[in-house]
Order: sequence, then C-alpha cells, then structure tokens
Amino acid sequence: MAKNIAVVGMQFGDEGKGKIIDFLAESADVVARFNGGNNAGHTIQVNDETIISHLIPSGILHKETINIIGNGLVVDPKVLMQEIENLRIKGVKVTPDNLAVSENAHIILENHIKEDKEKNKHLDTTARGIGPAYTDKAARKGLRVVDYITKNNEFSKKLSPFVKNTTLLINNLIDKNKKILFEGAQGTLLDIDHGTYPYVTSSNAVSGGICTGLGIGPKKIGNVLGIAKAYITRVGSGPLPTELKDDAGKQLQETGKEFGATTGRARRCGWFDALIGNYSVMVNGLDAIALIKLDVLSGLERIKICVGYKYKNKIIKNFTANLEILENCEPIYEELPGWKEKLDNVKSFKELPENAKKYIKRIEELLGVPVCIVSIGPERNQTIVLRKEFLF
Ligand code: GDP
Ligand code: IMO
Ligand code: MG
Repeated sequence: MAKNIAVVGMQFGDEGKGKIIDFLAESADVVARFNGGNNAGHTIQVNDETIISHLIPSGILHKETINIIGNGLVVDPKVLMQEIENLRIKGVKVTPDNLAVSENAHIILENHIKEDKEKNKHLDTTARGIGPAYTDKAARKGLRVVDYITKNNEFSKKLSPFVKNTTLLINNLIDKNKKILFEGAQGTLLDIDHGTYPYVTSSNAVSGGICTGLGIGPKKIGNVLGIAKAYITRVGSGPLPTELKDDAGKQLQETGKEFGATTGRARRCGWFDALIGNYSVMVNGLDAIALIKLDVLSGLERIKICVGYKYKNKIIKNFTANLEILENCEPIYEELPGWKEKLDNVKSFKELPENAKKYIKRIEELLGVPVCIVSIGPERNQTIVLRKEFLF
C-alpha cells in the first residue's frame, strides 16, 4: 500500500493523467501539481459530464481533497479565475479551503503570450505564454505570485485568498501522514532536460520535477506511476519515430478521438514505442504503469510494438537524444495478434480477450515493470486495477 503516489506522463503528454488522477484521488487527501501551466489539458469524465482542467489539479471533483498548485508552475491569473468560475457554475466547490496556489509560482503576463504566439511558431507551442514566462523566471526578471498579489492588478484581489506558502503546507500534510498524489503535466519526452529538445515544453515533467516543483525531499515521493497510452500520440512538431502517416494512423486518431484538450489540434498517432517506454521507466524511476486507451486497439487485425530503431544499417536499442536518428530511423516492429471485442464494458482483467492480456504482458516484459491499471474508456469507472499494492 502506497502512502504517496506520483503520476507522470511516459510519452508526449495527453496520456490520460487527468483520468487516472481523478480515479486515484477518491482515496487521496491531497493532489499537488508540480510543473507546467495552462498548456496542460487534463480530461476527467464522470457520468457523461466532461471537465478539462488546465491549471487546477485533477482532484477537484472530490470534495474532501486539497488541491495544490506548486511553485514549479507558471500561472495565468485570468485563466485560473475563469477555470474556478467554470467549475463553480457546474456546482463544484472551489474555495481557499480546497485550492492553494504557491506564492513562489510565476505569473504569465500578456507579453509572454504575445511573444509565444509570434516567436515560437516553429515549435508549434500551445501559445499560452509558457516558454517566455519560464524564460523570465530563469533570467531572474519574472513576476512571482507573491509579488503579483501586492500589485493593483486586474485579478490580484481575486487570486489573493488562494495564495499560500504551499511548501510549508505540503510538508505539514506529509508529516501528518496524509495521502498525497503528485500530478505531472505534459510527458517525459516533452521534459526540458530529457525530452526531444528543442521540441519540448519549458519545465521538468519527469518525477524529478516533483522535488523542485513543490519543495519536498525525494524520499517523500513514494510510488512513481507512469501513464502510457497503449499506442502513442504527439500534438505539435518534433520527432515521433513510430508515427503512422497512413490509414492506420488515421484510424487510431479517429477511434481514439485524438484532438488536443487545450488547442483542439489533431494529435499525430503511431504504434507503442518500447524504446520510449524503457527510457521513461529509467528517467522517472517508475514502479508501475497505467496503460490507457486499450479499448482503442479493439478491431485491429495485428498490433505492432516498436522494439528498435534501424538507422544507416545499425540497430539502435536505446532511446537517443539525436534528432537526426529519431527523425530518419526505421522502426523495428514486433507484431502481436489483435482482438475483435469491444472493451468498454469489461469489469476485470479476467474478462479481457486473451490477445489483449498478451499485449499487456508483452509490454510488461519489454519495460520490466508491472502494469497496475488498465483503462478501457474515458469514464472514471472504466478502469481496471490489476495490482492494488502500488495504489492507495
Ligand atoms: P492528460 O493530459 O494526460 O490528462 O490527457 P488528456 O485529457 O489530454 O487526453 C486523454 C484523452 O483520452 C481524454 O479525452 C480522455 O477523456 C480520454 N481517455 C482517457 N482514458 C481513456 C481510455 O481508456 N479510453 C478512451 N477511449 N479514452 C480515454
Ligand atoms: P498535458 O498535461 C500534449 C506540447 C505542445 C508543443 C510543446 C511546447 O495535457 O499532457 P508549450 O506550450 O508547452 O511551450 O509547447 O509541448 N505540449 C503538450 N502536448 N499535452 C500537453 O499537456 C502539452 N503541453 C505542451 O503541443 O509541441
Ligand atoms: Mg492533455
């Protein structure tokens, strides 16, 4: 039984982190975001009602859960206030009792958004001002939340009641043995240090970002859970070695409804890449995996998993930082038989088609870590727990 659980994306973001955090938050006391800003779009679906959160942690639908926006984030005050308002309209409680914003988080200003729109087109960013805000932070000319709320600004009065010393808050909650979920945004391959630079975001999306993004020691993290789609997607530019540019890719895109939760852009789709999977296991120190959207693979004759990259007659077995290789390699695939059955109403591992079980087992073998959750639909209850020991 885990005390604290970190949830991080293993691919290029949009793996289903929001869904899994909402599912796990049922048993958590605290959900704490540690990186990014409103470039994130985390979808939660309960009883056909869909909520997409950009800044507010995905524990917000659980009345007793405390949600923390950590110092590692960049916060657009207008977006945050709008998000709070939208949730309140839907009857969701959002007050300073269940939402805290770090004094040390940085503010996204109008000029950051303008610069992102004008200068970062080649990177295909979300144009939310994320990169320019982090640039100002690193250049030591950024504006922190604590400084912003003392200024007579449009949203400063509204934001003020939520602003806290969240470092002290979260460490106190940890000391009181509260169950904490750490919510990552983006994914490992979008991490500023470990991703496909420069086609990355401007923060640390890997589990290492939890310590700096919230102000806690590494021993407090607990279990690290990696979220991966049963295939792979990427929204925006940058290498995607297993990308399917044919009908198969289109089919995954349509069946999986692969459109960005923040910008609505179509996501590029491809087969599951075990090199990326292994790399994510390593840099995040993963204990277990949640495999998402397995239902989308139903009906495929054969399913492929990438187990190597062929580049200039060399076989590469480890993920590489070399963009030239990532962009021009030929993926080496292993093929597994597919299954016809729809999975939407499957309630347990036992009920899954044999070939779906084989697919999960093969991913476990290739990545060397257990799959503890399988997700078979966007709804909270379309979630199968395979191994409880990694969860609360
Ligand atoms: P996040 O950014 O990692 O939280 O992921 P997003 O919310 O951006 O994208 C995941 C999308 O997949 C959302 O539209 C979810 O509602 C949806 N989703 C999550 N899990 C499943 C699943 O198991 N099956 C299907 N079909 N959709 C899912
Ligand atoms: P969640 O948390 C998918 C991508 C953008 C772009 C690159 C840099 O929902 O998984 P940025 O605006 O961050 O400077 O853009 O990163 N990107 C995401 N892709 N999911 C996300 O978040 C993303 N956040 C940023 O598309 O390619
Ligand atoms: Mg998303």
